[in-house]
Amino acid sequence: MEQYAIKGGNPLVGEVEIGGAKNAALAILAASLMTDETVLVENMPDVRDTNVLLQAMQSIGVMVERIDRHTVKLNGSQIHKLVIEDDYIKKIRASYYLLGALLGKYKQADVSLPGGCNIGLRPIDQHIKGFRALGAKVSIEHGLIITKADKLMGNHIYMDVVSVGATINLMMASVMAEGQTIIENAAKEPHVVDLANFLNSMGANIKGAGTDVIRIKGVAKLHGTEYAIIPDQIEAGTFMFAAAVTKGDVTVKNVIPKHLESISAKLLEIGCEVKESDDEVRVVASKALTHTHVKTLPYPGFPTDMQPQIAVALALASGTSIVTESIFENRFKYVDELTKMGANIKVEGNTAIIDGVNRYTGAGIAAPDLRAGAALVLAALAAEGFSTVDDIHFIERGYEDFPEKLQSLGGIIEKVDSEQALQKFKLKVG
Ligand code: EPZ
Repeated sequence: MEQYAIKGGNPLVGEVEIGGAKNAALAILAASLMTDETVLVENMPDVRDTNVLLQAMQSIGVMVERIDRHTVKLNGSQIHKLVIEDDYIKKIRASYYLLGALLGKYKQADVSLPGGCNIGLRPIDQHIKGFRALGAKVSIEHGLIITKADKLMGNHIYMDVVSVGATINLMMASVMAEGQTIIENAAKEPHVVDLANFLNSMGANIKGAGTDVIRIKGVAKLHGTEYAIIPDQIEAGTFMFAAAVTKGDVTVKNVIPKHLESISAKLLEIGCEVKESDDEVRVVASKALTHTHVKTLPYPGFPTDMQPQIAVALALASGTSIVTESIFENRFKYVDELTKMGANIKVEGNTAIIDGVNRYTGAGIAAPDLRAGAALVLAALAAEGFSTVDDIHFIERGYEDFPEKLQSLGGIIEKVDSEQALQKFKLKVG
C-alpha cells in the first residue's frame, strides 16, 4: 500500500513552481473536443483526474497526443461514440463536463453519473435544469445521464445556487446553440473565466465571465486554438499555508496574485507576512499564529478547497477560531485524523470550533479526500516525530509531484510502498 512517510519539524523554506489549474484543465480538456480542428493545451497539470479524463476522451475517439508532460494536442474530428461509462470516469467529478461538451457539439450524450471527492451530496439538478432550458431532454437511467436535443436554443437561465460545474457545463452546452443564452447567478471562479477565454479563443462569443451574469451568443462552429491554462489557485494556496503551518518562508512562483487575495488576507490576519509581486507571492511565518474566523464562500470569497488547510493552521494558532463551511456539508472529515495529532476541534453542523494547541505530534493518519489529504500532510510536516499518511491516491488526484515539491522546500517526506521501505525511511531520517 502506498503512503507518505513524513518526519515533521522542519520549517519549509524556498521557492516552488505552481502548475496549471486542475479544475480549469478538466473543463478546457473536455471543451477541446467541441471542434474538429486540432487544439493545443499548454500548462496542463499531470495529475490523476486530468489523466482519467483524457483516457475517457480517447475511448470515444478523441485523438490525444502528449507533446510533453504539460502539453497535449487534442483532435475531436474522429469521435465515434457518444456514450461514456467506463469505471474510471465514474470516479471523477469532471466526467459531467463531457456531457456539456458532447451535447453542445452533437446534441446528444450519455455519461455515467459523476463521482469525485465525498464531501457532501453534490446534486446535479442545476446542470439538468440548464440543459432542459436549452431544449434538451434529460433522464437518468441505469446510472447514466442521458441527454438529447433536436436542436439547442439559447435561453435565460437563473441558477438557484452558485455552481462552478453547472456554470461550466452550461457555457459549453450553449456555445453553439441558436441565439443568446444568459446565465444569471453564475459562478465567478478563475477557472470559469479560463474556460470562457479558451472557448472565445476557439471562436465562441462569451461575455461577462467572472461576473454573475454570463452572456453567450451561439456561433455555428468552433475552430482550433493554442491555449495555456492558468496557474492553480488551490495548489498555490496549499503551499502558502505550508509556510504558515511549518513556520517557514515559501515563495509560490508562476501564480496570479489576484486569484489568491482571499487566501493572502487570511494569512495576514493570522500573523504571517505576505509579499506579492507580478507573478509570485512570498509567505513568511516568523511570529506565532493568532486565531481568526473564516467562512467558505464562492469566489471571490475564501475557497472551500482551502478550508482544511486553514483549519490545520488555526489549530496551531493561539485562541479560539471558528471555521464555517457553507458550500459542502461533509467537509470536516479530516478532524478525526487531526485529533490523533493533538488538535482540539469540535464540529457542530457546518461549523468547526478550534481551540489552538502548541504543537502536533506525528501519527498514522489517512487522507479522507483531496484537499483534506493535502492539509493533513501539512500538519504532519509541522508535527513532532513521524507520521504516515494513507489513501494518498486522493492527493494524487490534484497535486502533481506533491512530495517532491515539499522535499525541495526542506520537507522530510517520501512516498513508500511497503513496511520495509517505511523502516528504511525511518532509519535514514532518524
Ligand atoms: C467544483 O466542484 C470543484 N470541482 C470542487 O473542487 C470545488 O470544491 C467546488 O467547485 C467549489 O468551488 C471541479 O471543478 C472538478 P459546485 P462542483 O457545483 O462543480 C451545490 C477539489 O478539491 N449544487 O460549485 O461539483 C453543491 O451541492 C474539488 O478540487 C447544487 O445544489 O461544485 C454545492 O453545495 C472538490 N446543484 C454548491 O452547489 C447542482 O446542480 C457548489 O457546488 C450543482 C451544485
